[in-house]
Amino acid sequence: MKNIPMHVAFIMDGNGRWAAARGKTRRAGHEAGAEAVRALIKNAGAAGIKFITLYAFSNENWQRPEAEVKDLMNLLSRSLDEFDKTSKDNNARFLVSGRRDRLPEKVLKKIDKIIAATAGNNGLTVILALNYGARQEVADAVNALIAAGKKNVTETDIAAVLYNPSVPDPDLIIRTSGECRLSNFLLWQAAYSEFYFTPVLWPDFDNAELEKALEVYAGRKRRFGNV
Ligand code: FPP
Repeated sequence: MKNIPMHVAFIMDGNGRWAAARGKTRRAGHEAGAEAVRALIKNAGAAGIKFITLYAFSNENWQRPEAEVKDLMNLLSRSLDEFDKTSKDNNARFLVSGRRDRLPEKVLKKIDKIIAATAGNNGLTVILALNYGARQEVADAVNALIAAGKKNVTETDIAAVLYNPSVPDPDLIIRTSGECRLSNFLLWQAAYSEFYFTPVLWPDFDNAELEKALEVYAGRKRRFGNV
């Protein structure tokens, strides 16, 4: 396929509804969501995508019931172990986007370990947006510039101090489950992104669905404000 996006960002929505439709617990829905992530990492690399960003936990998600937050943190912690084990075979590089505050110590340790261990890999870059909020990211960037003594800032200055300045802006942002909004995800980086919204619930977002999205993207004309 021609015109493969270099960076695709995913708002993985609908785990809860997927579970409810099957009479399962929300925890089971998130487990199924993690399974879809596993497959996506393989399929995205095979499709020729270079970067994927996964919105795993927003800074608003702390408002969910304590038991669900705990389940999600445990699932993320287990998934990090798995990424760690498989990253040698799939040559994936791993990054995190978001704030460190509030994240459990065991999760932070695993994140640091896996980022260091995969820094030399040159396959797919997987960016986990964890404890992430886009407005917070821009505010953190502005504060970093103030701390550096800047009196006047340019777009380039801000872009240089976002959480992962070396990652290119997403070409395509995909949201599952029929919701058509950004929910405080990559507000700065999405300036010229293409959007793809699908009613498919995240656990059902398989390779066939990825290919459909890539086909739609391939047919889009991106003008970046030009004619
Ligand atoms: C949205 O579904 C999903 C989340 C808040 C968390 C995303 C987490 C995963 C896909 C699982 C693990 C992730 C990784 C990276 C291993 P929802 O609970 O909002 O669903 P609903 O809107 O149907 O209730």
